Amino acid sequence: MRSSTFSSVFLLASVAAQNLSLQHPELFSLHWRMLEQNSTSGFETPTVDFLSGYLEDKGLTVELQPVQSPIVAYNVRRQNIFAYIGSNRTCRLILNSHTDVVPPYFPPTDNDTDVCGRGANDAKGSIACQVTASLELKDAGVIKEGDVCLMYDVGEEQYGDGMRTFVDSLTYTPEWILTGEPTESFQATGHKGSININVTAIGDTAHSSVPQYGRNAILELMNFIPSFGNTTLSLSSIRGGTISNQVADRAEAIVNSRVGVPAKEIWDIITEQVGNVSNIILSRVSASSNPLAMDVIEGWLAKKIMPYGTDLGAWTINNTKLLLGVGSMCLDERFPQGKEKLLLVRRDICYRALCQEMIDMVVYYKEFVQGILNGTLVPIHNGTFPSSYLLETNTGNLTKREIAMQDYEARRYGGCMH
Ligand SMILES: *[C@@H]1O[C@H](CO)[C@@H](O)[C@H](O)[C@H]1NC(C)=O
Ligand SMILES: *[C@@H]1O[C@H](CO)[C@@H](O)[C@H](O)[C@H]1NC(C)=O
Ligand SMILES: *[C@@H]1O[C@H](CO)[C@@H](O)[C@H](O)[C@H]1NC(C)=O
Ligand SMILES: *[C@@H]1O[C@H](CO)[C@@H](O)[C@H](O)[C@H]1NC(C)=O
Ligand SMILES: *[C@@H]1O[C@H](CO)[C@@H](O)[C@H](O)[C@H]1NC(C)=O
Ligand SMILES: *[C@@H]1O[C@H](CO)[C@@H](O)[C@H](O)[C@H]1NC(C)=O
Ligand SMILES: *[C@@H]1O[C@H](CO)[C@@H](O)[C@H](O)[C@H]1NC(C)=O
Ligand SMILES: *[C@@H]1O[C@H](CO)[C@@H](O)[C@H](O)[C@H]1NC(C)=O
Ligand SMILES: *[C@@H]1O[C@H](CO)[C@@H](O)[C@H](O)[C@H]1NC(C)=O
Ligand SMILES: *[C@@H]1O[C@H](CO)[C@@H](O)[C@H](O)[C@H]1NC(C)=O
Ligand SMILES: *[C@@H]1O[C@H](CO)[C@@H](O)[C@H](O)[C@H]1NC(C)=O
Repeated sequence: MRSSTFSSVFLLASVAAQNLSLQHPELFSLHWRMLEQNSTSGFETPTVDFLSGYLEDKGLTVELQPVQSPIVAYNVRRQNIFAYIGSNRTCRLILNSHTDVVPPYFPPTDNDTDVCGRGANDAKGSIACQVTASLELKDAGVIKEGDVCLMYDVGEEQYGDGMRTFVDSLTYTPEWILTGEPTESFQATGHKGSININVTAIGDTAHSSVPQYGRNAILELMNFIPSFGNTTLSLSSIRGGTISNQVADRAEAIVNSRVGVPAKEIWDIITEQVGNVSNIILSRVSASSNPLAMDVIEGWLAKKIMPYGTDLGAWTINNTKLLLGVGSMCLDERFPQGKEKLLLVRRDICYRALCQEMIDMVVYYKEFVQGILNGTLVPIHNGTFPSSYLLETNTGNLTKREIAMQDYEARRYGGCMH
């Protein structure tokens, strides 16, 4: 736990000029204490217990919503946090982020300008800023009962089950939702979708000494792949054959495409054009997502499209959705190599929060909350993608676990079809 007493501030006056954490001790103490808790997806309880206790201590009403997932073990206690002022849980605005982090967990460290630790950006930095901003507005009497609810879900990084449980249980539609994820303090305008296709070729096995009696699945697959033509599809993995003295009777490739239209449209086009080849089976692999557009406030913070998916896709209602938070997916590089490269590395480097950015974000969040409630900040839907999708799922021929997984993915991303 960090010390933020007056005497330490006083004694370290010369250091204080440098140590940015001292400019907002409450914010950074909250951030640090969250980072001390290991909350790897599926096992978020330590952070949930700490944060819910903190919010209660600050006078908010806190509801803990159980999240049960057939994917994570049933005996693990997992809970979404829903907190609000007074007794009115019907708020105009929901501020949201997630308590879970990607593995491996490692504890926080800091220097005068940065705080490092698993989840420092994604997303405990945004949580600390949202909570601090809301409490400051509450204490100043700017917000009251029914204005702002805080919702921190579990499972965002892996299952999407926390948000899905929450959305399913909510009995009203908030006017606005703002989700905090690392957007480098840009207003996110949206993200592209993605589809993975499994191309499997079936051959006939034969001994390698008499290959003419077999049909080699690897060759069949290699002949087939080019029929996709010059699309934006990329070949992600390929696997085939069993042992050296047999002609391969089976070969499988996973092909990925980043999409600007719903994943189902891409799938329909592909199956219509090349889905009829004998000995080739096409199927969709889990974790497809549709492109999604966020709402933005014109003339406020700068805007940018994001390369990753978020919990916002789980909302299947047409209300206003914004995505804004601190930190970068690739802080040390600031996106130099393009978004696709970024996706490959994000899980390892997403760990450093800039203190100054967090201090600024508290100001932006306060401005946002006050402005959206008093009508001076008005979000607009700026983008070519819709901001929500109706669900469309096809669960034929899947195991129970696959169906559960797919359902989570579909809800999370707002309507995948596998
Ligand atoms: C963090 O929690 C996960 C899930 O319980 C566990 O597998 C991992 O070993 C923990 N890491 C550390 C460093 O405690
Ligand atoms: C900065 O100040 C905080 C108190 O808010 C303290 O816990 C932390 O150790 C200080 N960091 C450095 C690098 O001195
Ligand atoms: C703090 O650490 C980060 C990297 O871990 C470094 O880039 C930054 O310059 C350091 N700041 C100071 C004031 O030493
Ligand atoms: C709760 O807050 C909402 C939104 O501000 C408001 O519409 C509603 O009337 C409030 N309900 C009660 C019981 O005060
Ligand atoms: C790909 O499809 C084949 C045939 O349906 C199936 O056996 C295989 O498990 C699938 N692979 C993946 C990674 O989904
Ligand atoms: C794909 O693009 C390349 C280079 O632009 C071109 O030479 C080739 O003919 C194209 N192939 C198809 C199948 O359109
Ligand atoms: C696919 O095959 C079926 C019958 O095997 C045929 O009716 C259909 O027209 C074919 N579709 C395409 C796109 O070639
Ligand atoms: C509305 O909110 C903004 C902050 O976004 C504030 O600057 C402004 O003074 C507020 N206006 C009124 C009339 O409350
Ligand atoms: C979206 O934002 C851009 C840049 O601010 C603006 O030129 C454009 O008109 C906006 N589009 C819509 C649909 O509002
Ligand atoms: C949202 O609104 C758009 C346009 O008004 C509509 O096409 C779409 O179906 C709506 N989505 C949902 C989930 O109601
Ligand atoms: C299930 O698989 C069988 C055999 O592969 C296929 O004929 C059938 O259409 C599939 N059903 C669904 C609902 O996809």
